[in-house]
Amino acid sequence: MNLPLDYKKGFKNFLNVKIELSKKPFIPREETEFWVEAAIRELKKEKKKTHCLDLFSGSGCVGIAILKNIKNSYCDFADVNRKTLEQIKINLEINNIENKRARLIKTDIFSNIKRKYDYILANPPYVAKERLPELELQVKLYEPKIAWYGRQQGMFYIEKFLKKAKSFLRKNGKIFFEFDPEQKHKIGEIFKREGYKKFKFFKDQFKKWRFAKIEY
Ligand SMILES: C[S@@+](CC[C@H](N)C(=O)[O-])C[C@H]1O[C@@H](n2cnc3c(N)ncnc32)[C@H](O)[C@@H]1O
Repeated sequence: MNLPLDYKKGFKNFLNVKIELSKKPFIPREETEFWVEAAIRELKKEKKKTHCLDLFSGSGCVGIAILKNIKNSYCDFADVNRKTLEQIKINLEINNIENKRARLIKTDIFSNIKRKYDYILANPPYVAKERLPELELQVKLYEPKIAWYGRQQGMFYIEKFLKKAKSFLRKNGKIFFEFDPEQKHKIGEIFKREGYKKFKFFKDQFKKWRFAKIEY
């Protein structure tokens, strides 16, 4: 089994942003581009300065696409894996992002997050244990397991994320996050249990349920 082409090439284009992959982070996917574009459309309507959190940030593709497209925006990048933070540093430099607009945080989900945000954007690890047999061998062999494996039903991180996320949102804040189509029902139950009232599910470009937006 060969190294993924994107690792061989060493970079990936994500919404016209160059994302370098030398530290072998999770390779940005087109399904993610699709919802980040939707988030950017909303951010463009904001009148004031916006503070974003790119949680589970990996290569940094989500937050860097936002910083490149939204003038008056700031982004904190948060990930548990030190190597991804090194990768984000490289990608911020390549894309000429001013230092003051970005911060890197090593954290276990929200453990080291100390402030509230206008937007939280998250692509957590969500591949279910039960679906491991169908997972592409190339992903299993080459992309870091910590980046994609979501344990039972793939819900381990999504559940922990949703328990805490609302307490890190500013008034009128928004959350965009990605999931596997099979998780939609369970996520709906968590929304109810955790008291999220204003939320909507969306499909991706392949007509599969893929992301949710929460307003708080
Ligand atoms: C699916 S990747 C997403 C990467 C990138 N945001 C993207 O969309 O391409 C998930 C990321 O979550 C990180 N991660 C895994 N467990 C974590 C935890 N407990 N706290 C914070 N980040 C975690 C992984 O290191 C990985 O970079």
